[in-house]
Amino acid sequence: MAIFIGTIVAAAKTGALLLVGKLAILPILIAAIAYFNYDLMDPENHPHVTKNLLQQYDFIVIGGGSAGSVMANRLTEIPEWNVLLIEAGGHETEITDVPILSLYLHKSKIDWKYRTQPQKSACQAMVDQRCCWTRGKVLGGSSVLNTMLYIRGNRRDFDQWESFGNPGWSFEDVLPYFKKSEDQRNPYLARDKRYHNTGGYLTIQDSPYNTPLGPAFLQAGEEMGYDIVDVNGEQQTGFALWQYTMRRGTRCSTAKAFIRPIRLRPNFHLSLWSHVTRLLIDPSTKHTYGVEFIRNGRREIVYASKEVILSAGAINSPQLLMLSGVGDARHLQQVGIKPIHDSPGVGQNLQDHIAVGGVAFLIDYPISIVMNRLVNVNSALRYAITEDGPLTSSVGLEAVAFISTKYANQTDDWPDIEFMLTSSSTCSDGGTQVKNAHGLSDDFYNEVFGEINNRDVFGIFPMMLRPQSRGFIKLRTKNPLDYPLLYHNYLTHKADVDVLREGVKAAVAFGQTATMRRFGARFHSKPPPNCKHLPLFTDDYWNCFIRQYTMTIYHMSGTTKMGPPTDPMAVVDPELRVYGVSGLRVIDASIMPTITNGNINAAVIMIAEKGADLVKAQWLRRWKRDNGTINPR
Ligand SMILES: Cc1cc2nc3c(=O)[nH]c(=O)nc-3n(C[C@H](O)[C@H](O)[C@H](O)COP(=O)(O)OP(=O)(O)OC[C@H]3O[C@@H](n4cnc5c(N)ncnc54)[C@H](O)[C@@H]3O)c2cc1C
Ligand SMILES: *[C@@H]1O[C@H](CO)[C@@H](O)[C@H](O)[C@H]1NC(C)=O
Repeated sequence: MAIFIGTIVAAAKTGALLLVGKLAILPILIAAIAYFNYDLMDPENHPHVTKNLLQQYDFIVIGGGSAGSVMANRLTEIPEWNVLLIEAGGHETEITDVPILSLYLHKSKIDWKYRTQPQKSACQAMVDQRCCWTRGKVLGGSSVLNTMLYIRGNRRDFDQWESFGNPGWSFEDVLPYFKKSEDQRNPYLARDKRYHNTGGYLTIQDSPYNTPLGPAFLQAGEEMGYDIVDVNGEQQTGFALWQYTMRRGTRCSTAKAFIRPIRLRPNFHLSLWSHVTRLLIDPSTKHTYGVEFIRNGRREIVYASKEVILSAGAINSPQLLMLSGVGDARHLQQVGIKPIHDSPGVGQNLQDHIAVGGVAFLIDYPISIVMNRLVNVNSALRYAITEDGPLTSSVGLEAVAFISTKYANQTDDWPDIEFMLTSSSTCSDGGTQVKNAHGLSDDFYNEVFGEINNRDVFGIFPMMLRPQSRGFIKLRTKNPLDYPLLYHNYLTHKADVDVLREGVKAAVAFGQTATMRRFGARFHSKPPPNCKHLPLFTDDYWNCFIRQYTMTIYHMSGTTKMGPPTDPMAVVDPELRVYGVSGLRVIDASIMPTITNGNINAAVIMIAEKGADLVKAQWLRRWKRDNGTINPR
């Protein structure tokens, strides 16, 4: 124990460096992890940053996020290919591993801290009416900050992608790629071999910790007439406990899943803290031959002999294309960039999932996730020693539901609303982290949540699945270090207002089922300041309500969409090659033609698994043609 106390002092120092937010147990938590679980902190566990980069690689992958980590792993499976992964951020920490602390990561140094342009249609409860678009700036990308919910989407999403003219992307085509990464730790689900797999790199498990509200949510779903289903299986409509990208109660980011296992491959090179500023594209041949980046304040260049893979995410992939001369020619000229290829779709077609914050119910029992009650020395030790307890809770996200409003086809299994059911709400940390992460103004927070701070509640976040509104991204200037301009355009299409409003009504009804009333559930009906003038619970009231605490679920996508050559707005072809230039693909959330019906991380990982196979197929085919053998040697 003396050693343990000793490490507290040392760890307190690291702890202070790790995070901006204040949480008294952090030093103890880190010390306990160091003492009981040293391997988690062992620096040798982190992938090595390559000291001397080569001048030229076969492949350069830009961005080590959900997609980029998979690409680096799968491409280095071919020992003859040298692969460089370039990432703007650094390593994960012990804190990023702890599920309940994910909200502390927003606005920290591993977040790009993007904010949208102020618009009237949504986010009116936020400071400056700007939504906060958290994005990971760390090896593992947004999978290091996310809430780890594992949802694949609906088979119709992918069948629709194929119907747009993208052969090879139907559900039956992509299902094997979902399964390829999967290591399903729930033995019951793992038995269903049609939909699940074990032994993949990405660990998928149930939560080690549920409050009594978790099972109650399912029971209330049954009361409403819904089935309890495997939402990643045959039928999506229904209720379920979430599954998470988690391993033994800690976060399983794509850095942990896909990069740590390959850190000793000699053909894998890694450059961290390296900000890519431009792709090098020859204006006459239109061939992509390298990448320019800034590291340690110095400008550097590396060359690619085969391909550059852009996996910088739905904000930065289109930004980098535009900075490199691929985008809407008129826009590029406006900011002083010489167009190399006129591609009007770059940065357009921006889609995201939004939910509505603030649908909370007070209950009579002390069972909710209330941060100042559950995050303490005991739970820290429990987390470090037995890998369970409240710290493994993903901020109270316990159950999921896929339901259809009156605007969806009732006989089809293509729901239009997802409920994120939580044993907590915005007020469960006393107005510290959630308020800050979502950028809520003091006035809004105090008026709506002030009186229920730290009380026992449950929350329902209704999320709209298939938005019709489309946002866009533009360059502010030609300076690569300037943040681009982000226009969300949320709720600018009337159909979206209708669906989300009905989603909120359904959420309020859910909270009033007999099952939930048994907990003493009472709807916290405090109106947002801007909607006070409207009669409570009318359509006009809800239409106002949804524009106040409009919550991004951080699923930005679609900004370099995949499509056939006949679609002028398509940026990449069905093999994810950028139209108009050679030697360049985009492989990340940006390529989705339409957003998938659920949280999108699993689909992004699938896109990279399939993308890697497309790259391999092309280059191994060429090798076979030139050498008469499939072996690339
Ligand atoms: C707070 C939060 C919660 C979420 N919760 C969930 C959830 O529970 N379930 C779910 O399914 N999805 C969730 N998501 C969404 C999901 O995590 C993302 O959609 C997914 O990680 C996107 O993967 P990507 O590869 O497209 O981009 P990212 O993972 O964001 O990766 C892009 C990478 O590129 C790097 N990069 C960008 N620009 C440059 C540059 N110029 N030079 C060098 N590197 C660069 C970035 O630093 C980053 O590491 C959440 C996201 C966030 C932010
Ligand atoms: C609703 O879905 C069913 C089943 O897929 C389909 O047969 C029917 O045509 C759809 N109805 C409408 C109005 O789209």
